[in-house]
Amino acid sequence: MTTRPGPEARMRALAAELVREGAIRSPEWESVFASVPRHHFVPRWYEAVTDPRGITVWNERDDTDREAWLSTVYSDAALVTGLDLATAERVGDRAWTGVATSSSTQPGLMAGMLEDLRVGDGHRVLEIGTGTGYNAALLSARLGDRLVHSVDIAPELVEAARRQLAALGFRPGLAHGDGRDGFPGDVLFDRIIATCSVPRLPDAWIGQLLPGGSILTGLDLGITGGLLRFTPEGDGTVRGRFTATTGQFMPARAGALSYEQAPRAAYAPDSGQRPSGVTADAIRGAYPFRLLLAFALPRAELVHHTDDDGTWSVQLQTSDGAWARVPLGGESYVTEGGDGALWREVEATWGWWNEQGRPGLDHFAVVREPDGRMHARCLSTQARWDLGR
Ligand SMILES: C[S@@+](CC[C@H](N)C(=O)[O-])C[C@H]1O[C@@H](n2cnc3c(N)ncnc32)[C@H](O)[C@@H]1O
Repeated sequence: MTTRPGPEARMRALAAELVREGAIRSPEWESVFASVPRHHFVPRWYEAVTDPRGITVWNERDDTDREAWLSTVYSDAALVTGLDLATAERVGDRAWTGVATSSSTQPGLMAGMLEDLRVGDGHRVLEIGTGTGYNAALLSARLGDRLVHSVDIAPELVEAARRQLAALGFRPGLAHGDGRDGFPGDVLFDRIIATCSVPRLPDAWIGQLLPGGSILTGLDLGITGGLLRFTPEGDGTVRGRFTATTGQFMPARAGALSYEQAPRAAYAPDSGQRPSGVTADAIRGAYPFRLLLAFALPRAELVHHTDDDGTWSVQLQTSDGAWARVPLGGESYVTEGGDGALWREVEATWGWWNEQGRPGLDHFAVVREPDGRMHARCLSTQARWDLGR
């Protein structure tokens, strides 16, 4: 008879895998990941299955099949644990469509961010986005629970996390509310880490930082986003550099259960096709180029579009109804609706990025100015993009 490994062996194996991947880079975080039971925080989750039409169905899974549960929970995968009830639709026995609202972050991403956070003994840390409570447990195991605070917009998640944390002997400070307002009360922090993304750096986070502190967050810039470590400078400027770890988080929302829908105009009529040197492969294949597009077009979003004839495209669109799309598969023509400005900016940005020798993320910074305006800049040229307020 073969014996299956128990949770402790799997925790150690996951920690060792994260060391091999380069996500864990210190003995302190290795022993934390080897000792905090992720399965304790994820007794159920939604597994995504995307059908050939591109529709994602979430199948509810739980701990009934212990082997399947433990092998999923101790794999390096994000596990979705909550769906937006306003859009989720039941499509089968324990199967749903809808948008994810909470998850247990991929361990490799979490480990990389915790390393990039550069915590030291005695540091007080605020986490935005408690979710399952697993990351608050990791931080509590590393720093001691009295130095850890965490806030989530969903009260029932905070209460579930509180129970699960307490069962392991951890009692960090927990609160529910909009984490963009910081942690309630007048406590100050050496580090703030957000496990949901924000379109701009909230004032409250800067106000809750101790001198010498820093903020690690996902910045959601529309077309794409990035993980940045922001450090205040003496003059009120806060400067952010992209971290070695890359990844994206679900956006922070204002409602406990659902995302608010931004108003958008009807799509502009099709104004025709023309050849273009920028293909869907160029956009999908190069993250630094997508990031530059997000700097250049901060109000645009990137979606996948399918035509009646089944052709899939990458589509850029803005809330005023303008759009431009290029087909998947490398063909170099663009179809547009609106005045054509959207794709002209894409082509200019592609030209600039290639002229500069295709610089990577380490060549860019995002800055919050003292008056709250944000801009991105290239560190090796004078190029600068206004990201608004
Ligand atoms: C990726 S999950 C967090 C994972 C979590 N750290 C863990 O270890 O399980 C993102 C979380 O952010 C929360 N969230 C979304 N908007 C928020 C907001 N405005 N303030 C605080 N939390 C928010 C979601 O409810 C969700 O639980």
